[in-house]
Amino acid sequence: MARVFSGIQPTGEIHLGNYLGAVRRWVATQHDDDALYCIVDLHALTVPKDPTELRAKILELAQVLVAAGLDPEVVTLFAQSHVAEHTELGWVMECTASFGELRRMTQFKEKAERSEFVSAGLFTYPALMAADILLYDTEKVPVGDDQRQHLELARDLAVRFNSRYGETFVVPEAAIPPVAARVMDLQDPRRKMSKSVDSPQGTVLVLDEPKVIERKFKRAVTDSESEVRYDPEAKPGVSNLVAILAAATDRDPHEVAAGYTQYGPLKADTAEAVIELLRPLQERFAELAADPAETARILAMGAEKARKTASATMVRVRDRLGLPPL
Ligand code: TYM
Repeated sequence: MARVFSGIQPTGEIHLGNYLGAVRRWVATQHDDDALYCIVDLHALTVPKDPTELRAKILELAQVLVAAGLDPEVVTLFAQSHVAEHTELGWVMECTASFGELRRMTQFKEKAERSEFVSAGLFTYPALMAADILLYDTEKVPVGDDQRQHLELARDLAVRFNSRYGETFVVPEAAIPPVAARVMDLQDPRRKMSKSVDSPQGTVLVLDEPKVIERKFKRAVTDSESEVRYDPEAKPGVSNLVAILAAATDRDPHEVAAGYTQYGPLKADTAEAVIELLRPLQERFAELAADPAETARILAMGAEKARKTASATMVRVRDRLGLPPL
């Protein structure tokens, strides 16, 4: 069984990009792998948050993940802040990464441009992310395409640490889906669908009501032609719809595109497929949301499991670095 790790931020609402790019695949492979899924609440602090809201979002995200089908008895589902080793190894990774490497991260550059207050944590975020992954001897990291660069950095840091201090970390690999690895905003299809950009009409939330989903797809921006073709460069809006429909129905995007001659039916069918895809999640979510104590129990159980591996890794890391044993 491969060791798998991935993370998701408890920021804003979870959207169709998170679901198709990551969460759905976590669920699909949970029985094949030895997987840990982490609600990265410390990463969420890189941008100031309202504490009451953050507290609620962490629980809600755990409920969405379980509603999506993750079985907390099968995978390890936990909150990053419950396992202190993340911050400990995070520091070590900050000392392993160079300033120049972190400065080249495109997500940092984009986020920093949009923000008035740029925390030092936003800058060092990819070092903490590398620590998340390396703590668990992770082999595979299922993520969307936007995390590719961060994954490359995690690999580089693992290799660098190993060559400085001796074999310590497994060098992880990204597992990026073949379709819908980058779901685009429905209103601005040249930009990815995102929790941190304010585009309510362009972002389909997994908890959106069917009527809302239908309306968002109906109003999706396409182009002034009328041909349905899968060509993300030349036709980003139409190709995004095709990719979503292909992912939702497990088909090839070119084959999906060949079945349409007009935009209207493509939009309607995509909306319907997404509504059907999300229906079971939405039904289960309603039940789970009614029992927050059960969610807290699930997270506590996950943290306990995660801590076992994380603390063993830190014993090794301390020893390699020459820090005194605990
Ligand atoms: P986050 O919370 O932004 O996103 C969670 C997952 O959703 C994927 N994703 C998308 N996939 C397709 N299309 C989109 N428009 C889209 N938007 C988001 C992301 O690629 C991700 O897989 N830095 C990470 C969280 C993290 C992490 C980790 C991930 C922290 N530590 C360790 C893996 C391993 C992030 O902000 O994801």
